[in-house]
Amino acid sequence: MKKMIVFAILLGGIIACSGGNDKSKSNSKSATAIDGAKIYKSNCMLCHGDDGKLGLNNSKDLTVSKLTKEERIDIITNGKNTMVGFSSLLDEDEIKAVAEYTFTLK
Ligand code: HEC
Repeated sequence: MKKMIVFAILLGGIIACSGGNDKSKSNSKSATAIDGAKIYKSNCMLCHGDDGKLGLNNSKDLTVSKLTKEERIDIITNGKNTMVGFSSLLDEDEIKAVAEYTFTLK
């Protein structure tokens, strides 16, 4: 009988833990500042992953990239092989912001 109670508590704990989703972090900051993280999440995560390491479609691991900011801006703007260019989707400032964001990926 005691075992059943322990089991019930454990099960309850598992359900409580797995139910949480981390969507709460996206609180909107000032509207004018360009949010590189947000741009990354909606445009780049698909191939590069949340942390830059996913490597889908042969994309490079952004956390180990040795490219300079200018080189990253160039690739993001014009694309490279399977990576599409973002010149028609993002403006210059947005590309700059997301390029800077890639340096924060660890
Ligand atoms: C369709 C999938 C895809 C998407 C979406 C994508 N990338 Fe890429 N990315 C790639 C691939 C593939 C490469 C490797 C290109 C190569 O060198 O052959 C790459 C390479 C890069 C590189 C160069 C890394 C290095 O060290 O050579 C950077 C920087 C980069 N991506 C940033 C971004 C950013 C920022 C975004 C969003 C604006 C983005 N990517 C969106 C697929 C993608």
